[in-house]
This record gives sequence, C-alpha cells and structure tokens, in this order.
Amino acid sequence: MQIAYYIILIPMVYVAFAVFFVGTGIRLVKLFREPKNPATLQIFPEKRRRWMWALHDTFLLPTVRRHNPIFWVFLMLFHISFLLLIIGHLELIGDFRIFQIVQHEVFLGKGFVGLILSISLLFFLFRRFASPNRDLSVPEDYYLLILLSLTVFFGSQMDWARRWYDYGNLSVVEYREYLSSLLYLKPHLSPDLTSSGHSFMLVLHVFFANLFLMFFPFSQVMHSFLSLPMNKLRRG
Ligand code: HEM
Repeated sequence: MQIAYYIILIPMVYVAFAVFFVGTGIRLVKLFREPKNPATLQIFPEKRRRWMWALHDTFLLPTVRRHNPIFWVFLMLFHISFLLLIIGHLELIGDFRIFQIVQHEVFLGKGFVGLILSISLLFFLFRRFASPNRDLSVPEDYYLLILLSLTVFFGSQMDWARRWYDYGNLSVVEYREYLSSLLYLKPHLSPDLTSSGHSFMLVLHVFFANLFLMFFPFSQVMHSFLSLPMNKLRRG
C-alpha cells in the first residue's frame, strides 16, 4: 500500500505536470501553425477598443447570459472558484503576501470554494443528461466532468473534515512540507502524511488530479487557453 501511495504522491505528480505542460505547449504550437481560415471570423459592426470587447466576451460570456442565464450563473461561479482554487493550492506551497491582501486562513474560502465547485460540476454533469445537451455531448464530456468532480470532491472533503468537523490529524503544515518538497525537487513524504486514515483521501485526490492533468491537453478543456484569442479574432 505504501508503494502505491509513494507512486501516486510523487512520480505520478511529476509525470502529470510534465504531460500537462508539454502536451498543452505542443497543442498550442500546432494550433497556431495551422493555415489561417480564409473566411474572416470577425463580427460586425466593428466596435472600438477591440481588446476590451474580447476580454468582455471571454470573461463575462454575454451570449450565454442572454440565452441561458442559469447556466451563466453556474459558469461564472465555477470559473471564479477555480481561480480561487489555483490561489489556494499556491498557498499550500508557501506564504504569498499578495494573496493575503484579504487576511484569511489557508485553504482560502472556509471550504466553500470546494462546495461551490462541487455543486457547479454536478449541474454541468446533470444538464448533459437532458436533451438537447445530451444529444450534443460526446463520451469525453462525461469522463472529463466525472474526473474533475472526483478530484474536487476528495480535495474538498479534506478541507471540510479539518475545518467543519475538527479533524486535525492532517494540517496545512504537513501539506506545505509535501508540496514544497515536490516543487523544490526534493520529494519527501513524512510519516504523518501517509499514516493517518485521512491520507487515503489525499491519495485519491492527487490520483484523480493527476489523471485530469494528463487528460487536459487532449481534451476540450483546452478552450481555457483558446477562448481569448478566438474572441480577439471575432472582434478584429
Ligand atoms: C486539477 C487539479 C486539481 C483540482 C481541481 C483540485 C481541487 C481541490 C479542491 C476543490 C480542494 C478543496 C478546496 C476547499 O477546501 O475549498 C483541494 C484541496 C487540496 N488539494 Fe487539490 N486539486 C488539484 C490538484 C492537486 C494536486 C496536484 C495536489 C498535490 C500534489 C493537491 C493537493 C491538495 C491538498 C493538500 C488539499 C487540501 C487542502 C486542505 O485540506 O485545506 N491538489 N484541491
């Protein structure tokens, strides 16, 4: 069992991030090398301050807001929480004064970042069981949503147990020791991290997170890198 824990929490994390960065880089280079579409993608009438409109379209999703306001609310909640999640994980490596502009305990959000992500992901998953979304969905859509949901559930469970149920065997101190050892390429697993019953949740969380990171470059979540350039093309 300890061997499995070691493989998932150390080498598999390095492989996952390598596949994520190299895979994403290769896909982006391939995409930008593709011959330009002869037909313009620009929408008219042309508006001035084109970058501002491209940012507006990318981050405020006006088309979704007009046609499906409920979906828009969950999309906004999900993306804002995901940004907070990235900050939360960076703070699991060490202190960043810039993130403490609003003083808070690490993991930020008192467990609600994970809760909002969990509810949004369940909404994204269940809306694909009804027409017309079901007819427009491919198996990859479900795999991706299920993989990300499992990652988020087990991650959130760790924080909820500690914060809402006073389960104190594993704390931010142990997580920081582990995550910073990974970052500084001196990977170390302290016995505290792998001996408590809770460590099983950490291993499940990191296992699904690794699978998600490896799957990312080959999936349509790549849209996260492409939506701004696409909207800039549309705005000219
Ligand atoms: C796609 C990748 C990942 C996603 C979506 C994700 C998601 C989450 C979520 C939703 C939480 C709980 C947030 C909250 O409490 O509100 C969390 C916590 C945590 N994550 Fe991740 N995570 C990812 C990758 C990783 C990786 C690669 C590691 C370690 C190598 C990691 C380690 C942790 C730890 C230690 C916590 C617990 C924090 C606590 O108890 O306060 N996560 N993650």
